[in-house]
This record gives sequence, structure tokens and C-alpha cells, in this order.
Amino acid sequence: MQIIDGKALANQIKEELKLEVEHWVENGGKRPHLAAVLVGDDPASQAYVRNKVKSCEQVGFQSTLLKYEADMAEDDLLDIVKGLNENPEIDGYIVQLPLPKHIDENKILLAIDYRKDVDGFHPVNFGRMAQGLDSYLPATPMGILTMLDRYNIETSGKDVVVLGRSNIVGTPISILLSRKAKVGNATVTLTHSRTSDLEGHLKRADIIVAAIGIPLFVKKEMVKQGAVIIDVGINRVTSPDTKSGYKLVGDVDYDHVAPNCSHITPVPGGVGPMTVVSLLQNTMKAAKETIYNKP
Ligand code: GUN
Repeated sequence: MQIIDGKALANQIKEELKLEVEHWVENGGKRPHLAAVLVGDDPASQAYVRNKVKSCEQVGFQSTLLKYEADMAEDDLLDIVKGLNENPEIDGYIVQLPLPKHIDENKILLAIDYRKDVDGFHPVNFGRMAQGLDSYLPATPMGILTMLDRYNIETSGKDVVVLGRSNIVGTPISILLSRKAKVGNATVTLTHSRTSDLEGHLKRADIIVAAIGIPLFVKKEMVKQGAVIIDVGINRVTSPDTKSGYKLVGDVDYDHVAPNCSHITPVPGGVGPMTVVSLLQNTMKAAKETIYNKP
């Protein structure tokens, strides 16, 4: 069994990116600048955004964090988005999800200029991704592809089962892994809350991508010997073993599942760090105008 060390791989890619930034700036390029918008005080979102900003510093990007109260008006957020679209200093930006209930998430995501949408959530980027055109890929699925690629895990002809159909992970990763591409060419089954015989599907899978947000959902009996497990879940559960009284666990019962796998991602230290690094890679592309010319 091999642990897929997302943290180490993310650090390695950050080192590569840092060199790329230095080279780009030395040759007269604009230093990449990522902005992040955070609305409200959800502790998980605060931690993710802090991490994104810290990672920008590590690779030599500029970053801007825009924080607003949870009760801000939707129109005010739309104005912020418009300002970021028009600000030539900002190469790419993200609006951290989830947003407070009174704000229509889709309305905000649609207002983001797709040329600055380094999260890959805008329908233009999502549609281009689905058609195999160059686009900003959503960060978590992109991080998963990079892990599979760098660990030389074969996906062509394999049976992949994705658990969960979210717009951010389940749906895009199932599209990406079924595409005709270097990491792709898999036969993908997208499972969800209405799937019958979920266990039957899981047991046949060569590769499982778990993204349902239910702690320790995938058990040993559901997994074929030698399967590859990608655990996207980050669930905070109470724990008597830690000082804080809680710990983070994935959607997979790691301790019991891991011994039977060929590869598995831990939580924390698996998919999470790769998500951040993918966002940085997209921002680098935005600064270089690799995919789109600036607005
Ligand atoms: N919330 C959970 N994951 C993500 C992500 O990748 N991007 C944004 N903007 N919000 C999220």
C-alpha cells in the first residue's frame, strides 16, 4: 500500500511554481495576483482562505483578501465582483463558498468574468472543460488529476466510481476522468443518494473518488483488494484523543480501508493541499494569459 502524500507533492509543485514566477518576473512579466473574497465567519472557510493567501506568499504571488460581514447585501457583493472584474491588477480571484443563505451563489458565480475565474466554476469554464477545450479546471478535480499523474496511476480503461455529484467535485471529476486524455479514458460511474446497490458499484471499482462529506462512510467491506482511494472529504468530528476535542477525518474509514488498497490519500494531507496548489497553477496561467487574453 502506498500513501499518496498530497502535502509533499503540493510542496514540490510550489517549489516549481516559485521558480516559474521568478523567471516570469525577471523577464518583465507581471507578478501574478490572486484575490479571495470571504463573506461571513465560517471557521472552515476562514481556514481555507488563510491557507490560500499563505500559499500565494510562498510562491511569490501577490494576494488580496477581501473580508465582509455575513449580513452584507447581495448587490454589494455583486459590486465587489464587478470591481474585481475591472481591476487590471487582479489576474484571477475566487469567492469562497458557501455564501450566506440570503445570497444567490449562482448569481455571484455567473457575475465573475470567466477570464478571471481561477476556481473554474463559471459555466464557460465548466462547459469548455466538458468539451475538452482548454479552461480553468476546478481546483479539487485538477488536484486529483495531478496526483494520479505524478504517482503514475493508470486510469485508462479502469472502472472509476465517484461518490457524490456536487458541482465542485463529483460532477467535474467524473467528466474529467472519462475524457480522452492522458489522465482519463476511464469508465466512470457517478453515484449519489439515490443510487441503488451503492456497495455493489463500489466493490467493482478500480478507483474510488469519495466526495460526499459523510465522515468514514466508505468501509473496508465496500472496497476491492488493490483499489486506489481518493478521499476528498474533510469532516470535523469530535475526538477525545486531541487537545482541541475534535479532529479531521475523510469520507473513508482510512485505518481499516488503507491496508487493502494499492494507493490511498490521507486526510488531512491528501487532496486538500493539492486543491490550493491547483488554484495557484490556474492563477499563474491567468497572469501569463495562457488560456484567455485579459479582459
Ligand atoms: N468551498 C469549498 N471548496 C471550494 C473551492 O474550491 N473554491 C471556493 N471558492 N470555495 C470552496
